[in-house]
Amino acid sequence: MEWDVVIIGGGAAGLMCARVAGLRGRRVLVVEHANRCGKKILMSGGGRCNFTNTGTTPGNFLSANPHFCKSALARFTPTHFIGLVEQHRIGYHEKELGQLFCDDSSKRIVAMLLQECADAGVTVETSCSVERITQEQGHFRVATTRGTHAAASLVVATGGLSIPSMGATGFGYEIARQFGHTVLATRAGLVPLTLSGKHLDHYQDLSGLSLPVEVHCDGARFRNQLLFTHRGISGPGILQISSYWQPGKDLSIDLLPAEDAAEFLAGRQARQPASELRTVLGDALPKRLAQRLCDVWLGSKPMRQYRPAELRQIGAQLNAWPMVPSGTEGYRTAEVTLGGVDTNEVSSSTMESRRVRGLYFIGEVLDVTGHLGGYNFQWAWASGHAAGNVV
Ligand code: FDA
Repeated sequence: MEWDVVIIGGGAAGLMCARVAGLRGRRVLVVEHANRCGKKILMSGGGRCNFTNTGTTPGNFLSANPHFCKSALARFTPTHFIGLVEQHRIGYHEKELGQLFCDDSSKRIVAMLLQECADAGVTVETSCSVERITQEQGHFRVATTRGTHAAASLVVATGGLSIPSMGATGFGYEIARQFGHTVLATRAGLVPLTLSGKHLDHYQDLSGLSLPVEVHCDGARFRNQLLFTHRGISGPGILQISSYWQPGKDLSIDLLPAEDAAEFLAGRQARQPASELRTVLGDALPKRLAQRLCDVWLGSKPMRQYRPAELRQIGAQLNAWPMVPSGTEGYRTAEVTLGGVDTNEVSSSTMESRRVRGLYFIGEVLDVTGHLGGYNFQWAWASGHAAGNVV
């Protein structure tokens, strides 16, 4: 069949692009290989979809080309998406730091996008796999398990590699390479980190315990919760820093981010000279962690026995706990994929390939990755909108 636009991938970016192009009167086909569209939207935000972040700025994104995301984000803002959500009477609330979630279920966001696509005359084919893509005389031919389609514009919206069980594939990267694009190395982001050796032995049985920390790596820092797991560390603070972590790099974790630990200890020494360090620390940290840190790292004796220099050193250790992760939990549990199609070869205003006319890349398949907190969906909406306006 003949279309104006074929979009491969019926996820967040693909559906937004389809809607916008359909509203412009374009004949649009979305090809989705899973049995339903938007599976990642459905599982996102614990089933409530953190669909945007009102504080979105280009600084919330990682990319080899940090300027690339600016244009699309400026032209389709969180307010635009919120407008759509309100038009569909979907209840939402702000959790923290500008993160907006549905009141009831992520299903409402998928239903909204599919309704918008239907109203815009978009055709959506699910359980449909692409077998081959060729380009002849300026037209793309897309051979699928349900027949061959032709279109002047082809949009690659296949997402990243995380959660393969939900339909994630590397197909978008294959298409990019087929048409001469550079694909930057990919790795799992927003992912729990694993520990090994003494760190795992020492902290594994604290699994389930969480505390607020400030974690630093490679110039980035995030203040949020750290959660001990049976294989390592997780929680929002660790997921955020995981996108900046590379094998071999160490993390520095401030266990008392709200205070100068040395000052805290000196104050306690004056007030509780007979108390042991482990007891004093148990007032500032979860008791089991305080106990463990003293047993395996800091030692413990009555506060009066510490010299000022010793307390200063222990304080510095608590404000910068060094930790070397052994790896990540990988794409199985990662929320996003870092790296992807090199943005230097794509127009930042239209998402069109600079190499092949009529070929577009949107969403996570591109080398643009957001922080945790609704930024990745905002990128999917904004990049889908940018392409949808021109395809
Ligand atoms: P997306 O993955 O949404 O869509 C790609 C589509 O292409 C899928 O439907 C897939 O099946 C299809 N596809 C793949 N290969 C294909 C092929 N060969 N042929 C046809 N179709 C193909 N972000 C956020 O901002 N807030 C949040 O709350 C969360 N929560 C969250 C939880 C979990 C568990 C995960 C894994 C991820 C998140 N994210 C998130 C990230 C967010 O889901 C992600 O960044 C966006 O869905 C990316 O949108 P895309 O449209 O690019 O890909």
